[in-house]
Amino acid sequence: MNEKERPIGVFDSGVGGISVLKELYKVMPQEDYIYFGDSRNAPYGTKPLEEIRKLTISNVQQLLSQGAKGIVVACNTATAAAVRILRGMYPSLPLVGIEPAIKPAALQPGHPVVLVMATPMTIQGDKYRKLVSRYETEAEIIGLPCPGLMEYVESGKTSGDELLAFLERLLSPYRNKIDSIVLGCTHYPFVRKAIEGLVGERVRIFDGGNGTAREMCRRLSEADLRTTRTGIGTVFFENSLATEEEIELSRALFQKN
Ligand code: DGL
Repeated sequence: MNEKERPIGVFDSGVGGISVLKELYKVMPQEDYIYFGDSRNAPYGTKPLEEIRKLTISNVQQLLSQGAKGIVVACNTATAAAVRILRGMYPSLPLVGIEPAIKPAALQPGHPVVLVMATPMTIQGDKYRKLVSRYETEAEIIGLPCPGLMEYVESGKTSGDELLAFLERLLSPYRNKIDSIVLGCTHYPFVRKAIEGLVGERVRIFDGGNGTAREMCRRLSEADLRTTRTGIGTVFFENSLATEEEIELSRALFQKN
């Protein structure tokens, strides 16, 4: 197959990266996509670094063996743990990893207070520390590890009393004290409405999905790997749980507004 017509490989520890896939599809609807969710091994964010690295490398190898022309690491945790290693392994591959969208949140006027919701692994990592140090004169940046939150999305619960009570416990110490929230885990955009309802309209919410999609578009163009087709591409879902329910959940999240 002509190199340009090969699919873009996208993966996450589970179904969360579908929030990034949606942005990719908006930016490049003509492309074909293979989305791999590693729900069997989720969550990644509370696992040891070495284990996340191994899982991440194996996901990339799998997508490349299926013919991916480029890879989007649609998982902040996997990016934090392994993107540097992946760049070393595949220096000429268009490969983009999502990171918490701290920059646009911190550059809002008036020295804002920014709450970064992410997995424990993302917040403990060196990459996160470096990112924060770049913007700490611009804003007050508070990292909030949210173990347990991705599990709601993995089980298809993106609303409801149980989720609201969980978020309430997590966010109540910050209510009326923050100007913006960065959704630093790709599962969280699926519970954005519930978060918005709790913190109110005054708090702006940022996530890195669109920036990641635009960066992938730029990288593919640079490598002359954009498809030449003009119609709409296809999206193929795979999941390590390999059940029909998991694929149904993936499709439902992809369609969700
Ligand atoms: N979706 C992943 C992220 O963006 C994390 C979820 C997990 O803990 O596996 O960080």
